[in-house]
Amino acid sequence: MEYQLNRIRIWIEDDYAALSKRAADIIKNQVDAMPNTVLGLATGSTPEGTYSELVRLYKTGAVDFSKVVSFNLDEYFPIKKTNEQSYYYFMRKHLFDNVNISEANTHIPNGEAEDRVAECDAYDKKIASYGGVDLQLLGIGGNGHIGFNEPSDVFVAGTHHIELDASTIEANARFFASTEDVPKHSLTMGIRTIMSAKRILLLASGSGKAEAIHKTIFGDITPKVPASVLQLHPDATIILDKEAARLIVGKLS
Ligand code: PGA
Repeated sequence: MEYQLNRIRIWIEDDYAALSKRAADIIKNQVDAMPNTVLGLATGSTPEGTYSELVRLYKTGAVDFSKVVSFNLDEYFPIKKTNEQSYYYFMRKHLFDNVNISEANTHIPNGEAEDRVAECDAYDKKIASYGGVDLQLLGIGGNGHIGFNEPSDVFVAGTHHIELDASTIEANARFFASTEDVPKHSLTMGIRTIMSAKRILLLASGSGKAEAIHKTIFGDITPKVPASVLQLHPDATIILDKEAARLIVGKLS
């Protein structure tokens, strides 16, 4: 089912597979219409199905990434590219190594940077040099974060270094041997970087995201729920499965 709420388009799909297919179709259509699209990409469990569907579409010849440029939202800091939990590693495994995107066109904040401030500045300049992101894919944290913009008293504009929330470390510990092994910091696109994207596509799956989604769509616009800022975006789409939509279905018509 599709709903329009103010300026946010909301799709509620039966399950994770349908959500992933919907997201991949939107990305494929964007790339078809504009082969040199600048994609903003996300990591985490949620977009994995979208990436496998895009890989499937690519293998059937349905989509061509040869001119696509990508910028990932964030990366742990510090982290080696060879670390299997780095987002550098994740993107190669789930997408880049399986489609015809040119490695030179892929960008991820450098978790090995010696000067993290210079790395963040350079990242924003690089995005701007491509004319900005055309379509930004986002997940959402159970705490409402987008990228690693954690709940806070302020919105931070540009790409920056941030200390991860205890709840994020806890949530991501499932990928590491122990909670202590989760990096405590990251480099992340800021709210201005994200909001400058021409289109936004946020995905959420499972009941653990239901409260964050309710606050994002119906709550106050506040840095305490970073995703709530999407209410101000002129072209934002949110794709949910039934569980993530649990607290909002009764309020949509
Ligand atoms: P997840 O993470 O997709 O692994 O739930 C999303 C996020 O934290 O942004």
